[in-house]
Amino acid sequence: MCGIVGVTADPDIGRSPASMLVDGLQRLEYRGYDSAGFALLECNTSRLLVFKDKGKIKHIVEKYRVRDYCCVTGIAHTRWATHGAPTRINAHPHTDCTNTIAVVHNGIIKNFASLKEYLVEKGHRFISDTDTEVVSHLFEDFINHGYNPLDALRKTVEMLEGTYAIAIVYAREPHRIYFARNVSPLIIGLGEGFNIVSSDIPSVLPYTRRIIVVRDGEIGYIEPYRIYIEHNNKQVSWQSRISYITWSLEESEKGGYPHYMLKEIMEQPRVLQETIIGLSTDDSIQKAAEILNNSSYIFITGAGTSFHAGLVFSYFLSRIASRPSHCFISSEYETLSTSASPDSVLVAISQSGETIDTLMALRAFRERGAKIISISNVVGSSIPRESDVTIYTRAGPEIGVAATKTYLTQTLALTYLAIELAAINNSVNAMEAKKMQAELSRAGRIVSRSLDRASKNVELLAESLKRHRNIYVLGRGLGSLIAYEAALKIKEVSYIHAEAYPAGESKHGPIALVEDRFPVIFIASPPSSIYFEKLQGNIMEMKSRGASTIVFGTTSYRNLVNVDYFVDVGEASEIAAIYALTPPLQLLAYKLAVLLGRDPDKPRNLAKTVTVE
Ligand code: G6P
Repeated sequence: MCGIVGVTADPDIGRSPASMLVDGLQRLEYRGYDSAGFALLECNTSRLLVFKDKGKIKHIVEKYRVRDYCCVTGIAHTRWATHGAPTRINAHPHTDCTNTIAVVHNGIIKNFASLKEYLVEKGHRFISDTDTEVVSHLFEDFINHGYNPLDALRKTVEMLEGTYAIAIVYAREPHRIYFARNVSPLIIGLGEGFNIVSSDIPSVLPYTRRIIVVRDGEIGYIEPYRIYIEHNNKQVSWQSRISYITWSLEESEKGGYPHYMLKEIMEQPRVLQETIIGLSTDDSIQKAAEILNNSSYIFITGAGTSFHAGLVFSYFLSRIASRPSHCFISSEYETLSTSASPDSVLVAISQSGETIDTLMALRAFRERGAKIISISNVVGSSIPRESDVTIYTRAGPEIGVAATKTYLTQTLALTYLAIELAAINNSVNAMEAKKMQAELSRAGRIVSRSLDRASKNVELLAESLKRHRNIYVLGRGLGSLIAYEAALKIKEVSYIHAEAYPAGESKHGPIALVEDRFPVIFIASPPSSIYFEKLQGNIMEMKSRGASTIVFGTTSYRNLVNVDYFVDVGEASEIAAIYALTPPLQLLAYKLAVLLGRDPDKPRNLAKTVTVE
């Protein structure tokens, strides 16, 4: 999983393609960041210059003074290693034997081993361990056999199996970048006297707001004044596919906060508000509710945080709409999809809309005739495009690798949908449904209030937790689902081992580890009339084994005893409690990361969008 970007510009328009590439690539760093590289076609000579290394983009750019080069066209890559260790040799771009062709690639070429063998036999010299290098040599091979570059691209793509977004430069055509897409995302940014190809929108935003999403199976090229796209050897007319991006550049930058993660936690009141406005004016909610109502079986899937949002959906489907459902982690789709049928529906949740496991789950269900509802934050991404209905969250770009604002906007959209279904199947009457939706529309204000109340306490708590190597996060009902997401956030960004369990289950194993001062966080969520006594029991069990007991709870739990530290998030109803309880827990994870000197925006070994199975 990587990011690619390519820029080609008319030298007379006064822009530096080298600097555009550097800035564009830095905005893709969230897609992977273990190594990076640039291939530039030098002004006047059209020589191919390649600069690459392991490490952060910033250091590579400084080391090779990439911005200082005059070029008309260039491509760049930020890498998250899949084939071959993160080394200079394995960093992209990859070149051919004559050093006139350079390739950057996001995805995995499944049949690279056999292609490599075939090319080595023909005399091609490989230097890296990557799957990508076969692309530059294949392209070269077809050129050597007399094909023009576009035909060489067609022939190359015909031989590739797997997933890819590819950009290629060829020194003999210094004003052109070839591209191809299958599954991995790729967009084109349209400029005046320049054009850009990229894995994602933030990298083109400083230069243009007009974009085209390249579709699976499409190939083509960009030049400063021309775009050519084809599918199955037929030219495609793209003019009607231009979208205008309204996200501001500032929105995809840090907005004054030291980290994106903090900025994104603090943005939640606004994006929840925008999402609720979007939901109430969007007929996709109604359509999705009808599909759910007409289906006999409801499956829900997602990865990471999106899976946790799925658990919340499943909870509210049962609590509000009286509908049982099955929520599974998307990478488990192979066996789970065998029970799908035309009377089932799959709700696929993915903020990026590109997570490969979720996309594959969707396709497996679809093949068996299931209907697909997706929840995504990225318009035009792969998962929405293959769904019957998509409900979009309006969180704006999320740059921090750990999902925060997208999680709460997902739970908001999904809870709204559960209420809509409950109104259709008469689990609640129209008045009750309206009341619940009104309650949800206060989610943004609930987040603000909770952060105001709890921030100081969370800061003190982080100080005392930072020395621990293990933390349990326990809850009951909705609280256990909030606990899963809280534990994930803590481990992702602080690297403290945090494990979530339903509190009742903690007696069946986890309690064996509890000894003096072992921190146990309890999530005390409504309804307290059901959970107060039982949670109190769980607190006593932990306390009597020496645990430090911490409660994140709504005010109705204030009277719990044997609690060492209580973070009061204010009062909230069951459907709104997640907006009161989650933000202080996200903040705790963030503070722990900062106190421990971690970079919360780019946790080690993780990437924002996982596009490999
Ligand atoms: C990665 C990210 C997580 C995210 C998950 C699913 O693991 O680091 O933050 O929750 O992918 O991503 P999606 O885009 O499908 O929601």
